[in-house]
Amino acid sequence: MKLILTLTLLTTLLISCAKNEAGPFVEPNNGCDTTDLSFNVEIAPILQQNCVSCHNSPQNNGDFTDYTTVKALADSGILWQRVGVQKDMPPTGPLVGCTLEQIEAWINSGAPEN
Ligand code: HEC
Repeated sequence: MKLILTLTLLTTLLISCAKNEAGPFVEPNNGCDTTDLSFNVEIAPILQQNCVSCHNSPQNNGDFTDYTTVKALADSGILWQRVGVQKDMPPTGPLVGCTLEQIEAWINSGAPEN
């Protein structure tokens, strides 16, 4: 009986310590969500806004509303090469901040369609 009481006390103490140490939840990257990114939810709107005016058909630099086209460019490294390394796409000025971080994270996570 004494042992159970001691164990209960110790456990309670441990839990309260752990809680204090955890502190407030700090969001990474200043609120830029770079986890579980989806082509349909985060990436397609970025491409729509910055790329599709030019990239809108297979004859016209590739159709970037088409997942398969973008996936192939992501997997080959060409997408990141132009957007993140050479930074010459879009030609009007490079993507920056959260938009660029999300493209990078999406490519690094295997460019999923989900
Ligand atoms: C003002 C028109 C225009 C916009 C906007 C634009 N592009 Fe392009 N893009 C082009 C043209 C033209 C080419 C083909 C010539 C070249 O490779 O430079 C091209 C080529 C590319 C290529 C190489 C394709 C290949 O098969 O080798 C990639 C990757 C690319 N663009 C990505 C993007 C991304 C991503 C965006 C948006 C963030 C974007 N572009 C916005 C005009 C544009």
